[in-house]
Amino acid sequence: MTKFIAIISGKGGVGKTTTILNLGSALMKRGKKVILLDANFMTPNLSLHLGVPSPKSHLNDFLKKKKSLNEVIHIHHSGLNFIPSSISYQDFKKTNPENLSEVFEHLENLADFVLVDSPAGLGHELIHILKNTDETIVIVNPNLSSLVDALKAIELAQENNNIISGIVLNMTNKGKHELHKKDVEETLGHPIVANVQLDKKIRKALYQQVPSYYLSPRSRSSKEYDKLAKHLLHE
Ligand SMILES: Nc1ncnc2c1ncn2[C@@H]1O[C@H](COP(=O)(O)OP(=O)(O)O)[C@@H](O)[C@H]1O
Ligand SMILES: [Mg+2]
Repeated sequence: MTKFIAIISGKGGVGKTTTILNLGSALMKRGKKVILLDANFMTPNLSLHLGVPSPKSHLNDFLKKKKSLNEVIHIHHSGLNFIPSSISYQDFKKTNPENLSEVFEHLENLADFVLVDSPAGLGHELIHILKNTDETIVIVNPNLSSLVDALKAIELAQENNNIISGIVLNMTNKGKHELHKKDVEETLGHPIVANVQLDKKIRKALYQQVPSYYLSPRSRSSKEYDKLAKHLLHE
């Protein structure tokens, strides 16, 4: 059975796409079949992180019935399977997120995990994702605006029957001028399962268009993604 997991945050730029890439890599290392799905139609950037700015086929084509599912699943040289969304504004205008459930139906039983990248905010695009996922991972940065947005995102996920698998506290900087883990957990009401520090290796990996986990599997941040993967696998 495939587990569909949404990665959400409320606020933008907190590390959703980064988490998808590295968690996907950590699960893959454990022998799991993983597909990354970019369902962020508004501002898709999964394929940009992977160095494929304009893929030949994308989710928008599948939803318009122009391409089959197999044609829109790409394989990155790191081994990751991913389904990109189109970065074109015209494709965005012609795509109806209400049709998203079709891709979820087709992905059933094709992988152990489908990790779904989602847009910032709490709009109808996100709701259509959450209607199709079983679990949600919430990414939060150690500041108040991220925390408040994450809290609303959690409520929206629960309203759509998602289990909250855990919180990833991302981009911490050794406790300097930032919220503490305990405050984050108390406010959100869920445990932090991974705490990823601000890591130059993550910026370097983005520049090199590969997951940082692939470049440095034993770095401090990769160990946190290992923790998150083990948590999902109940190890
Ligand atoms: N732990 C981290 N350390 C350093 N840079 C990070 C970290 N997490 C994310 N980033 C960087 O922050 C930026 C935003 O991350 P991204 O994953 O694209 O956020 P989102 O998908 O939530 O918009 C990217 O440039 C990414 O490389
Ligand atoms: Mg993103």
